[in-house]
Amino acid sequence: MRIDIITVLPELLKSPFEASILKRAVEKGHVEVHMHNLRDFTDKSYNQVDDYQFGGGAGMVLMIEPIDKCISSLKKERTYDEIIYMTPDGETLNQKMANTMSLQENIIILCGHYKGIDQRVRDTMITREISIGDYVLSGGELGAAVLCDTIIRLIPGVLNNETSALTDTFQDDLLAPPVYTRPADYKGLKVPEILLGGNFPKIEQWREEKAMERTEKLRPDLLE
Ligand code: ADE
Repeated sequence: MRIDIITVLPELLKSPFEASILKRAVEKGHVEVHMHNLRDFTDKSYNQVDDYQFGGGAGMVLMIEPIDKCISSLKKERTYDEIIYMTPDGETLNQKMANTMSLQENIIILCGHYKGIDQRVRDTMITREISIGDYVLSGGELGAAVLCDTIIRLIPGVLNNETSALTDTFQDDLLAPPVYTRPADYKGLKVPEILLGGNFPKIEQWREEKAMERTEKLRPDLLE
């Protein structure tokens, strides 16, 4: 998979790909992540990429021309399954969307900034708009990092048995059951007895019950 990220703040997006699972996914060749600085696609002085909005109003708007130039140059090289714009008024990200996107070949993620981007970009170049939740970030970069993390860990081969995504919360519309590790008794706080024996069918049944209990208690909406 290849992910091209268009941003005015590439430095904000570097570290998530330099540690842990995402780093290993990049090193093993499961994913290529390329950052493109929007300022490299403007001819204006001071590398200007934003301007005042027509009609008045507070806040700057990212201009269509540098975005068009950047997207067009990428589309000349390959075809994209999806050109995503990160925005608080987009479709709210969930695990099902991440599962689908993890099977795609090439995607572009455009990070907004300031008051947003010229509507003509959204009308003509963007194929999908995604929000990471009902709150406003200063820009799309952190949202893009969240989106990339959810997608990349699901690419076949990225996770091994120990980190398998199959048992994740949400993967089967249930929250994950509780987990424990050593010691079995910490200052009188005991691990459930069932987990200490080797009866794996029983353990599996216990986990399913706990997952259901937890979901009913914390997220009944998932069961509707
Ligand atoms: N940009 C600003 N706020 C955002 C959000 N909640 N999700 C995605 N992109 C954003």
